[in-house]
Amino acid sequence: MAQTDLTPRGASPPANPQNVAEVDVEPGTLPESMAAWVIREDRFGEPRDAFQLEDIQPPEPGPFEVVIRVMAAGVNFNNVWAALGEPVSVFRYHPEEDHHIGGSDASGIVWKCGDGVTRWKPGDEVVLHCNQASYEDPEVHGLDPLAAPSQQIWGYETSWGSFAQFCKVQAQQILPKPKNLTWEEAASYGLTYFTAYRMLIDQCNIQAGDRVLVWGAAGGLGVFAVQLCQLAGARALGVVSSERKGELVERLGAVGYIDRREYDGMARRGGESPDEEKARFKESRRFCKEVAEQLGAPPDIVFEHSGRATFPTSVLAVKPFGKVVICGATSGYNLDFDVRYLWMRQKQIIGSHFANAWQANKANELIEQSLIRPVLWRTMGFESVAEAHQLLRDNQHLGKIAILVGASEEGLGRTEEGPGAIRAEVGA
Ligand SMILES: NC(=O)c1ccc[n+]([C@@H]2O[C@H](COP(=O)([O-])OP(=O)(O)OC[C@H]3O[C@@H](n4cnc5c(N)ncnc54)[C@H](OP(=O)(O)O)[C@@H]3O)[C@@H](O)[C@H]2O)c1
Repeated sequence: MAQTDLTPRGASPPANPQNVAEVDVEPGTLPESMAAWVIREDRFGEPRDAFQLEDIQPPEPGPFEVVIRVMAAGVNFNNVWAALGEPVSVFRYHPEEDHHIGGSDASGIVWKCGDGVTRWKPGDEVVLHCNQASYEDPEVHGLDPLAAPSQQIWGYETSWGSFAQFCKVQAQQILPKPKNLTWEEAASYGLTYFTAYRMLIDQCNIQAGDRVLVWGAAGGLGVFAVQLCQLAGARALGVVSSERKGELVERLGAVGYIDRREYDGMARRGGESPDEEKARFKESRRFCKEVAEQLGAPPDIVFEHSGRATFPTSVLAVKPFGKVVICGATSGYNLDFDVRYLWMRQKQIIGSHFANAWQANKANELIEQSLIRPVLWRTMGFESVAEAHQLLRDNQHLGKIAILVGASEEGLGRTEEGPGAIRAEVGA
């Protein structure tokens, strides 16, 4: 990869977020500086404090790399973790840089291509997937890029993400922008949708008629898991924490929902006494009974990402020989559960992480055909990057949040008719 001068222009006054839609150079040429939201190690903490606006020199593309002018960016939970510095500092992943420009989703315009790039040219309108791996790792060429030692999530484990006027990606990360979507719609879905696609389609081989329990069904992953179930002919039951989220999940095709506030006692908090654990288990059983009633039988698949609080219930709920597929742990990553329910009933736990380029392209085709639609809750201005992450941190959102960067207003960028994104009701 090319060595870029990464010196931040710390002495410059912070960029003006009002002007980010303007650039005074043509495709093929980069400006001297750009506005970027930057996290630094000495200000890890709540997103509202950790993200700060800076002027910084845009990156040059190395071989097989492309610099994209960001038109809109998507907000994901990974940069909540980046802001907090938990469970690990992102600078451990990219120690050669003292700044972290996050952002793992974007729509934009190809601006400058590095040596060797032939599929894309300046001016192309694109979206991005966020998996990076070295071309030299053999895993990339036969096993799966996700198995490569060099594998990293762009905009989380790397810098030069999409919360800036320009971002830098590997050419293999680029996908055609669905023409029927606006810039903000196109920026909103990649990370969570492609992750949900791999979990259900590839890892679980979901079949028509399968029953699926989806935790956080109105969240970033959940809204796509529910739609994928419907497309596959499977029956999804969503778990949510408000009536309004439940209504959204039903609109997306779920057969029903459970409000987890009615089962507060089932959440594993860690350190329970034997009596408390007994009471918690009883609540889990009550929850599993309702799951089986609503689905008609226990689920074939449990779609997991909430982690510690829900995992013992997930293992209990899934049917014998069923699958618990997990890609995250919002409530805590030290999981414990009664393993007898796993081995005696021959259940499987499947770890899953993002998606490879092939899966991302296949999944993107379903968006181009409007068979799966982005679920957009809010579109915010570039000045709101920190606030948007705080909303996620505080679980105040539905579906996805997009940030306008190069797009001067909402509604731009659509070049073909189509239904566009599903709008989630304002207010969670
Ligand atoms: N490995 C990967 O490739 C990958 C990709 C995407 C995301 N992730 C991880 O997966 C997690 C979810 O991502 P997301 O984008 O879907 O986030 P999100 O938009 O915040 O949605 C998560 C949902 O989980 C539910 N939830 C939160 N705390 C919970 C708890 N204690 N018990 C039960 N449900 C809880 C919330 O819904 P209710 O309050 O309505 O229940 C929330 O809407 C994050 O930790 C993220 O880092 C990993």
